Amino acid sequence: MVARRTALVFGIAATTAMASVVSCDYKPRNQGRVLYESECQSCHMENGQGLGELMPPLANADYVKENTEALACIIRYGMEGPVVVNGVEYNGQMPGNRQLSEIEIANLIHYLLEVLNEQENTMTINEVREQLKGCKKP
Ligand code: HEC
Repeated sequence: MVARRTALVFGIAATTAMASVVSCDYKPRNQGRVLYESECQSCHMENGQGLGELMPPLANADYVKENTEALACIIRYGMEGPVVVNGVEYNGQMPGNRQLSEIEIANLIHYLLEVLNEQENTMTINEVREQLKGCKKP
């Protein structure tokens, strides 16, 4: 009887421990996607394909691949004025996301590069932090 109760208590503890490991692991890996869906998708569309001549694409986008050193600033402060992406000129305005932390921006960049552009993400959190210090704030 005693042994069975111990086993039961142990079983609960193990389940709880597993649940917390799973949730720790879950968050950072998926944060980029979750943030993309809440902060970017409404304009850049579900798979980052953009919207005609109104919204530039983020998926398979030459601008994203060639301007990795500008991505953190664009995400935090937005951008405006003419920009050419995959040969199409856009002249719009993107609002900034000043509420996002450095880690959230790093996870978004990870999602943009690795998932939407199939590029290896070599940007470290320290590089993101350095980049953010040097942004030209509009
Ligand atoms: C309200 C609509 C809107 C939202 C929301 C938005 N963007 Fe943009 N984004 C734009 C527009 C419009 C441009 C082009 C701006 C210009 O013409 O200078 C742009 C340009 C960009 C560019 C550079 C051009 C390109 O296509 O590579 C990047 C990178 C980018 N956005 C990333 C993001 C990310 C990441 C998010 C979410 C954190 C986001 N945007 C949210 C509208 C938006």
